[in-house]
Amino acid sequence: MPIFVFQLAQLGIVAADLTAALMFLYGLHRMASPVTAASGIFVAGVGMAVAIAASFLHVFGVSAAAQPYLVTNIALALLALCIGGGIAWWSGRTVAMTAMPQMVALYNGMGGGAAAAIAAAELLADKGHGLTTLIVTLLGALIGAVSLSGSLIAWAKLDGVINQPLRLKGQQAFNALVLVLTLAIGVYIAIARADTAPLLLATPVAVYLFFGCALALGILMTLPIGGADMPVVISIFNAFTGLAVGLEGFVLQSPALMVAGMVVGAAGLLLTLLMGRAMNRSVANVVFSNFGNVSKHKAGKIQGELKPIQAGDAGIAMRYATSVVIVPGYGLAVAQGQGKLFEFVKLLQAAGVSVRFAVHPVAGRMPGQMDVLLAEAGVPYDMIFQLEDINGDFKTTNVALVIGANDVVNPAARTDKASPIFGMPILNVDQAKQVFVIKRGEGKGYAGIANTLFYGNNCNMVYGDAQTMLVQMIEAVRGLGLSAAA
Ligand code: TAP
Repeated sequence: MPIFVFQLAQLGIVAADLTAALMFLYGLHRMASPVTAASGIFVAGVGMAVAIAASFLHVFGVSAAAQPYLVTNIALALLALCIGGGIAWWSGRTVAMTAMPQMVALYNGMGGGAAAAIAAAELLADKGHGLTTLIVTLLGALIGAVSLSGSLIAWAKLDGVINQPLRLKGQQAFNALVLVLTLAIGVYIAIARADTAPLLLATPVAVYLFFGCALALGILMTLPIGGADMPVVISIFNAFTGLAVGLEGFVLQSPALMVAGMVVGAAGLLLTLLMGRAMNRSVANVVFSNFGNVSKHKAGKIQGELKPIQAGDAGIAMRYATSVVIVPGYGLAVAQGQGKLFEFVKLLQAAGVSVRFAVHPVAGRMPGQMDVLLAEAGVPYDMIFQLEDINGDFKTTNVALVIGANDVVNPAARTDKASPIFGMPILNVDQAKQVFVIKRGEGKGYAGIANTLFYGNNCNMVYGDAQTMLVQMIEAVRGLGLSAAA
């Protein structure tokens, strides 16, 4: 092949990689606001398509030894693209909002697995890499493999395939031992590949052992952690996957992989820290799996009583209020009541009531879940307020309507030092003049503790499925002879 064709192809790869990297960064920048997030995802997706298309330019640089396999390899790559793209398209379109954490866990695991697969190919091919590149390859392999197996366990827990945390005696010491063993094998591979040590073990066998131990480590780390804590774990593995992809990007000298990996790694780390802060948990507490034991807390006897009210009566009370702040929680997502909720809100607005939404950073089971839920129903972004922007307003609010939320409005976080959620910032719903809480019964929230808000003098419980209760509220307000503005 003429040398200029090869050089042109190399130039095309570098140009496409840099373009893709810039598109990832611009896409991420647009994802910072719900208004531009969808277009940000599209831009980043196009960037990914550019990087994938450019990778086919490598056909102009294959070695003579690989030439006979060229057509087969291209066909396999296209087949993999069709299968992977088809499954992703179908699952993205059909996934339920409440099943998003599982899907994120699976895709995150695949990213870690892809990075580990690149590392495996590099290590098994013995391309004569220098020691630095070998160390980077091994680090990426370890982190990617841990992320793959750990994310699969996280998926199994979220999906209910594994229902119980599995804890062994001396688990952390055993995990540390497996980590040390994996690192030792890694050091052996690096030395053996650099041809400076007598070979006790064939290097491919050591590579398989290394990946076996790394995969086991991911499983061992994740098994003891309670299922409800998996979103935080997924966020940590997300950071791991990004780091692994970035490291393997360095090995392959691919700017797109390096930038994408580091961006994902940094974003995952920040998200973990933010989730930890919003749940009042340190990252060390998360990493050493001391969480998941929250239900051990024994609440003292709560003063007051639960006061049920009919959904229709609560709806009518809100129709005659001047200001209503709505707090959505995990139960709204379970009930898929967002559409009916916005219908109800439009009725209130048509009656001149000021309505706003207050979103807690860890309401639901994954970051941003409530924002996505409300956006899905068509709620305008300027009606949605984050905790720090609205918390001071509850004192002057007529009615706070809590829908399927529990922990994020539990005043124990402010007052009860023994509570597992003590110190977690909460929405100060209890300061509103009147509070209505929609939930099905006396079920606890994710933290497994009682909520003193429900027993307050200013609080009434609307018992039932969120969507059904909202339908009853709509009917009651419509019965007064008003219609929605929109
Ligand atoms: P939760 O505290 O989990 O409470 C949800 C409430 O919804 C339950 O008390 C349940 O009571 C009610 N519910 C369930 N299905 C319902 C339905 N169909 N209709 C009406 N109500 C229903 O939710 P939250 O207030 O959103 O708090 C989130 C919790 O998850 C926090 O503790 C947070 O730390 C944790 N967490 C969040 C994340 C992220 S990133 N969001 C990640 C990990 C953990 P009934 O059974 O009585 O109906």
